[in-house]
Amino acid sequence: MGAKQPIAMPPALQSSATWAKSTQSDDLIAVNGLLTSLVPRATLAESYVTSLVPVAKIRGIERKFEGAAMREWKAHSYEKISIFRDYVEAFVRASGNAFNRAYIDACAGDTENVLKVTGERFPGSAEIALAVQPPFTHVALFELPHKAKRLHTLKAQYGGSREVGVYEGNCNELMIAALRGLPVKAPTFAFIDPDGMEVEWRTIRLLADHKRQYAESQNKTKVEMWILFSTGGMGRMLGSNEASARAANLPEKVARLYGGWGPWERIWKARLTGELKPGEARLAYLLLYMDRLEELGYRYLLARPVHTTRGELYVMVFASDSTAGGNIMQWAQQKERVVKRADVLFEMPEARPQYDDIHTGWRDQLPFKLPEWREYNYESAP
Ligand SMILES: C[S@@+](CC[C@H](N)C(=O)[O-])C[C@H]1O[C@@H](n2cnc3c(N)ncnc32)[C@H](O)[C@@H]1O
Repeated sequence: MGAKQPIAMPPALQSSATWAKSTQSDDLIAVNGLLTSLVPRATLAESYVTSLVPVAKIRGIERKFEGAAMREWKAHSYEKISIFRDYVEAFVRASGNAFNRAYIDACAGDTENVLKVTGERFPGSAEIALAVQPPFTHVALFELPHKAKRLHTLKAQYGGSREVGVYEGNCNELMIAALRGLPVKAPTFAFIDPDGMEVEWRTIRLLADHKRQYAESQNKTKVEMWILFSTGGMGRMLGSNEASARAANLPEKVARLYGGWGPWERIWKARLTGELKPGEARLAYLLLYMDRLEELGYRYLLARPVHTTRGELYVMVFASDSTAGGNIMQWAQQKERVVKRADVLFEMPEARPQYDDIHTGWRDQLPFKLPEWREYNYESAP
């Protein structure tokens, strides 16, 4: 085991940097070096850009959905889904020899989407995952009842002989039942893509534990996850007005998100007293969440901020035990991309913040000590 190497918080602590966070193993530090070397750091600053799913790919699926209701997406969501597509396509290829492959979509969304700026239609995560080749043999899709109906259409279109479960309702309540139907030996990818803070820590923990015994005894990987962490939402919810946040019962919601009380409350206090600036507090909330994932035993943690011209909205956090998984996600995150705009003659790559690697030690950089976690009791929760 290598010694922990605390490194300074990124200078632009308040900016939307992306970090690869490591645990303490030599293995991981080496891998982080490898990941970073996929794209030279100098090039990253210039070419950290986003690109979208090729229109031709989108059109191929569009025809199947004539007449279906649509959800309008902004460019940042499109950016997220294009990274998702690249990752999922690579995931099934990389696990092509496995007997089973499983996909879990905790917030599957509408089956058809349209990009607001250009009017282009494109498939959502559930359809992308159902359409990839080689196929996932087991798929679990969760959505709130009023939207879940459309997922049944997708199931009929793409299901075939494989196991596709559509779970109508709150994924936090339904995850246990769904996991019972998924083979623990299958390489499994879970996409956690809520609108805000709907997905609770108990759900993340269930996912992490699903394959744990098998993974630990057979030197295999746990469920891989790509999780939307709403830094913008945290900033807004736990803003500078404590009374209104408490009146709206927001602390309870945040405690469910983290599965505990304590450390995030201290960061909130620091924000309220001005010890931390808004951007610093947002980053601290994120790193705290990544700490929680590390506690679940994940070896590779990557963070990818997604933002508009007005600032960061959320950070996509990747958690995996797989070196290959880490490499693939790093590649997908760093791939050159172009953000679509309605009013341009030529599509140009956008300048983006540079990636930073963060090792353990971020807590040491805080101007105060964080308390221990007090675990949230979901059974006796209001
Ligand atoms: C950002 S959208 C998902 C988009 C989708 N992943 C895609 O790429 O097409 C978030 C979705 O989560 C759903 N949702 C919110 N809370 C949920 C919960 N507790 N359980 C399941 N779905 C939920 C919302 O109805 C919404 O459709």
